[in-house]
Amino acid sequence: MDKTMEKATEHLGSLHRAVVFLGPPGAGKGTQAKELARMFGVPHLSTGDMLRECIAHGTPLGLQAKPIMERGELVPDSLVLKMVKQRIQNADCSAGFVFDGFPRTVAQAQYFGELLKRCGYEQPLVVHFAIDPALVLKRITGRRLCKIGGEIYNIFERPTKVPGRCDKDGGELEQRPDDREEIVKPRLEAYARQTAPLVAYYRRLGRLHDVDAAQSVEEVSRRVLEVVQGHDAQSGGS
Ligand code: AP5
Repeated sequence: MDKTMEKATEHLGSLHRAVVFLGPPGAGKGTQAKELARMFGVPHLSTGDMLRECIAHGTPLGLQAKPIMERGELVPDSLVLKMVKQRIQNADCSAGFVFDGFPRTVAQAQYFGELLKRCGYEQPLVVHFAIDPALVLKRITGRRLCKIGGEIYNIFERPTKVPGRCDKDGGELEQRPDDREEIVKPRLEAYARQTAPLVAYYRRLGRLHDVDAAQSVEEVSRRVLEVVQGHDAQSGGS
């Protein structure tokens, strides 16, 4: 962590709201969501991680989701929404949470808004990871994840000290099955068709803040913190 971030973390208050990271595959949402959630001591929620866990455990939901995710398509709203509803009602979400990869369709966003209202939250603060889709291919194909803790690395941009081993716990690194180049294209198409309309949706609600996700990890972190702490120059209504 650089000096700016170290200084910023000394002054963090409580989150007490839902923060959503919106952006194309490989934009850096997971990397930043883990860090922000850690800084505020709230859960990092990722529908992608939840679905992969269901697949790993062979649950009925996992069995339905597996072939869809392997094709790079979105899992149907009905399945995702049931899972999200259960998760955010957990006690650990009472002080706020950071969601990455959800909502992903306008129907999911509408349902989420209603759900939040029932939990006493306002509409989410949405951080939009703006990046040219052409830039994410290298990030995605270079991504490696720790099998133990899920730590995110990149063989090109964020290599580990010992190749193939996590810096934190020494766990073996693996590649996600949907990070193969031929699956990245349908994932980007699904984003453009079904998820990108959420940028206009949340902008209309005055909840959207843009972050230039092509910058370094440290610079994106700095900007995300600025948005969440309300020092954002844009009028996002937070
Ligand atoms: P999901 O797991 O949500 O994946 P995604 O949205 O496609 O996003 P990624 O995890 O690929 O990227 P990221 O933005 O988190 O990037 P990261 O930080 O890892 O979804 C997977 C699938 O699950 C979907 O295709 C769908 O089938 C299903 N699904 C999930 N949610 C759903 C929903 N709500 N509805 C329906 N279906 C759903 O970074 C990427 C790489 O870049 C890493 O190697 C990292 O080290 C590196 N990196 C990060 N930041 C930087 C930087 N600033 N500079 C250089 N390198 C960087």
